[in-house]
Amino acid sequence: MSLLQQPLELRSVRLDNRIVAAPTATGTAAPDGTATEAGLAYYGRLAGSGVGLAIIEHHAISREGRARLSQYLLDRDEVVEAHRPVTACFKAAGLPVFVQINHAGSAVRDEELRRSEGVRLLAPSPVSHPSLPGVLPQALTQGEIDALPEAYAAAARRAVEAGYDGVEIHACHGYLLSQFLSPLTNIRTDRYGGDILRRARILFEVFEAVRSVVDSDLPVAVRLGAADTLPGEEPRGLTIEESRRVARELASLGVDLLDISGNLCGYDGPGEAWFAPYCRLIRDVAGSVPVVCTGGIRSADAAEMLLRQGICDLVGIGRPLLEVGKRGQGPEERGQTHTIDKESEGRGQAYTFDKMDLFVKCVGLTPMTHRLDPY
Ligand SMILES: Cc1cc2nc3c(=O)[nH]c(=O)nc-3n(C[C@H](O)[C@H](O)[C@H](O)COP(=O)(O)O)c2cc1C
Repeated sequence: MSLLQQPLELRSVRLDNRIVAAPTATGTAAPDGTATEAGLAYYGRLAGSGVGLAIIEHHAISREGRARLSQYLLDRDEVVEAHRPVTACFKAAGLPVFVQINHAGSAVRDEELRRSEGVRLLAPSPVSHPSLPGVLPQALTQGEIDALPEAYAAAARRAVEAGYDGVEIHACHGYLLSQFLSPLTNIRTDRYGGDILRRARILFEVFEAVRSVVDSDLPVAVRLGAADTLPGEEPRGLTIEESRRVARELASLGVDLLDISGNLCGYDGPGEAWFAPYCRLIRDVAGSVPVVCTGGIRSADAAEMLLRQGICDLVGIGRPLLEVGKRGQGPEERGQTHTIDKESEGRGQAYTFDKMDLFVKCVGLTPMTHRLDPY
C-alpha cells in the first residue's frame, strides 16, 4: 500500500489518507463573517474531494484581526450557529475538518479595511510590514498582548461548539504571530522580544490557552513559519534553526500537528515542494508529532516520495483544491488545460497531476495542466 493511503490518528480524529486540503482563503464570507451560499457550495465540493483532512481558511479571532473584508469570523458567540452548516458539509462527507484561526496584525490586505473607521493596524513593533511598505502599525501594549491568548481561545471554543474536529493556530505568512516570530518585525525589548524563545512566547501562550479550551480528544495544530527566507536563499530574519527550537517547544507542549510553511516570505516558491528541506529539519526535532509539507506538490509520485524520504507525514495541497472547490471536478473537465484565476495564481508554474487513483480523486482532473503567468 502506498504511504499516501495510510490512515493516521490525531487524538480521536481518524484521517483516511495523508493528503491535507491546505487552508486557502476563498473570499466567500458575508460581511458579518459567516458563510454565504457560495461558501457552502465551495465547502460542499471540497468535502467530496477525497482528501484525508481539510483545514479550512483563516478565520479572524476579532474584527480588528481581519486581513480582508471577505474573511470569515469566529469573533463572537453569535456566529457559532452560522458555522454549523459548514461543519455539516464535512460531516455529511465523513471528512474531518479543522478550522484555522488568525489575527492579521499589521498585514491587513484590503486597503478599504485599512482605511475603515476605527481600524488600527497592530503589530509587535512600529515597523512596516514588508508587504506593506510605508504603512506604519502601532505596537501592541502589554495589556493588548495579555488579552491575545484569551481571544484565540474564545475563537477556538466557538469552533469546537460549531462542530469542527480540530483547530489550527496560524503562525506563518506574515500575520500577527508570525510578526512576533520574526526579528524583522519584532524589535520589542520586553519579554515578548529578543531571542527566539522570547519572540515565540506569545505563540506558546496562545497555544496553551487554545489547548485548555479544546476538548482533550480533539487535536490542536500550529501552522508554523519555518523561516523568513526560502530554502537556498541567504538567511535573513527568522531562521530555520530558530523555528526548530519553536517546533521542539510546541511538541513538548503537546501540539498534535505541525503544518509547515514560510514566515515573512509567504507560502510561494520556485519549483516543486519548495519547503521540503525545512520540513525535514523540523520533523527531526518534532518527535512523534506529524509534520505537514505544503507548497508546489503536484503529483502523487512527488507526494509519495516526500513521505518515503521521511520529509513529512502528510502533504498539503492548496491551489489545485481551491480550484476544485470553486469549480467542481466534473468528468467533462478531464484532459483540459486550466488557467488559475488572479486570486490563486502562482509564480509561473505549470502544474500536472499524474494518474494515481487517490490523487485523481483528490484533485478530480487528470491529466491537468495549470499554466500560470508570473507576477
Ligand atoms: C488564494 C490563497 C489563499 C490562501 N489562504 C490561506 C489561509 O487562509 N491560510 C493559510 O495558512 N494559508 C493560505 N494560503 C496558502 C496555502 O495554504 C498553501 O500553503 C499555498 O497555496 C501553497 O500550496 P500550493 O502550492 O499547493 O497552492 C493561501 C493560498 C492561496 C493561493
